[in-house]
Amino acid sequence: MNKKEISVSILDCDFNNIEQEINKINNSSSDYIHIDIMDGKFVPNIAFDNNTIEKVNLYSKKKLDYHLMVNDPNDYILKCVKNNANIISVHYEENDNVLNHLISIKKLGCRAGLAINPSTKINQVSNLFEHIDILLLMSVQPGKGGQKFLDTTFKKVEESKKIIDEMNYEIDIEIDGGIDNKVSKKLFNLGSKILVSGSYIIKNQNIASAISNLRD
Ligand code: DX5
Ligand code: ZN
Repeated sequence: MNKKEISVSILDCDFNNIEQEINKINNSSSDYIHIDIMDGKFVPNIAFDNNTIEKVNLYSKKKLDYHLMVNDPNDYILKCVKNNANIISVHYEENDNVLNHLISIKKLGCRAGLAINPSTKINQVSNLFEHIDILLLMSVQPGKGGQKFLDTTFKKVEESKKIIDEMNYEIDIEIDGGIDNKVSKKLFNLGSKILVSGSYIIKNQNIASAISNLRD
């Protein structure tokens, strides 16, 4: 099996001690830092300001995985590129220009991710698969950390994996929301490549063991 990758979401970490928080992740076996960008419109909450994004980039030694929960990704894509994005994911929902966004993310040298809400079906988005590097399946309603994982996600991983394999697409499946060690094994076994985890990791005193629990 491919390497099981972990992307630590910093949404609920202690921003008064951001350098220490990022250093804890730097010293762990995490593969990415997951940065949730929220505009207060696509989702009710707002995160993060420029200053915070720049600090995360400054302190991070990990690859950066940006998740844009915003109405107009154009306002944010360049900012992510300037701040060392490896992955930039844009939502399918309420976005008439999603294909343009995916194409421009790739042109700017990053991996293009398509994020979909729990209610969006795989067959609504499979025509975009030829343009993406990452399929980000939300396993909670986007907007905040600490929510319960939705079991309906398992079937969506299976469905998307089947299409990706049949069509020989090079797409990594990433899952985001409510992930703990009870669901991680099954998600990896079904063909997910990257698991995002926020509260499960951040709440755990020992980040290293939380991350290895997600992998084993
Ligand atoms: C939810 C965010 C997630 C979230 C993950 O809208 O996109 O990245 O922070 O945190 P947990 O693991 O606590 O659900
Ligand atoms: Zn996210």
